[in-house]
Amino acid sequence: MPRHFLKVADLDREEILSLIEAAKASKGKQSGALSGKSLGLIFSKPSTRTRVSFTVAAHHLGGHCLFLSESELQLGRGETIEDTARILSGYLSGVVIRTFSQRDLEAFAAAASVPVINGLTDERHPCQALADLMTISELHADLSAVKLVYLGDGNNVAVSLMNICALVGAHVVICTPEDLACPDWALAEAKALAAASGATVETATDPEPAAAGADFLYTDVWFSMGQQKVPEKKIRLQPYQINERLLSLAKPSCRVMHCLPAHRGEEISAAVMDAPQSIVFKQAENRLHAQKELLRLLMGDAQA
Ligand code: CP
Ligand code: NVA
Repeated sequence: MPRHFLKVADLDREEILSLIEAAKASKGKQSGALSGKSLGLIFSKPSTRTRVSFTVAAHHLGGHCLFLSESELQLGRGETIEDTARILSGYLSGVVIRTFSQRDLEAFAAAASVPVINGLTDERHPCQALADLMTISELHADLSAVKLVYLGDGNNVAVSLMNICALVGAHVVICTPEDLACPDWALAEAKALAAASGATVETATDPEPAAAGADFLYTDVWFSMGQQKVPEKKIRLQPYQINERLLSLAKPSCRVMHCLPAHRGEEISAAVMDAPQSIVFKQAENRLHAQKELLRLLMGDAQA
């Protein structure tokens, strides 16, 4: 049975921590771990970071990458997910999928005989969470002492971030308007992970007290790919914008995170995005390093 990475908890705590340490150590290094192997990228949504970082990661490991836009595959004309998964498993050594429904991703993985990686669904973004944790751990060796506050829309990025913090034992606060909170299933999942790790998972609705004492403030777009730009949502999320005033309530050493792409002036002010406290570009770069180790773990030749 192939090993998939469809959600954060598909790896255990030790695997995630050792993957992150390996990613820190292997920055810029190349190997032949994927020599002779091909990785397919099936994307139904746009991407800059995920697409390019996986392509370069496979290349650094001696492998080859094929970008497969869903609309150009027979999948876009009604060939089933299961048939596509079986056929591509005969050609490829692994597949990264960016799509809408987590169920479609799971259906593909169930029919595939090669590892499948979640490159973002409406529900989760676990590869982003790996790079985020790597970025956090580059600044804080003791993850149990970290307080991370996510502000804004309780979306796919928030769910995976909450899960990875819960898995490794950090203190995570998800601060959103009540009706834009992370779904109940995601909170239940995070609480279960926290019970095992000693993490604290909190939800909040008031950004100012939530930001107090934070080591990291994190935000993401208010309208995810595929969502309608409803003006009322923008108005309601305004108090959750990470700006200089909100940042001044956090620890003086606080760093600001964003998975990108950002909308300056919406979820983050331009001044904070470009401030010295912002580590958003480091996060983006770490996608490459973390995913290289993920590919090595799931698809790599252990000897290389
Ligand atoms: N953060 C992230 O996944 O970026 P892309 O949408 O550009 O891949
Ligand atoms: N929540 C955003 C993340 C983009 C990387 C989206 O799904 O569009």
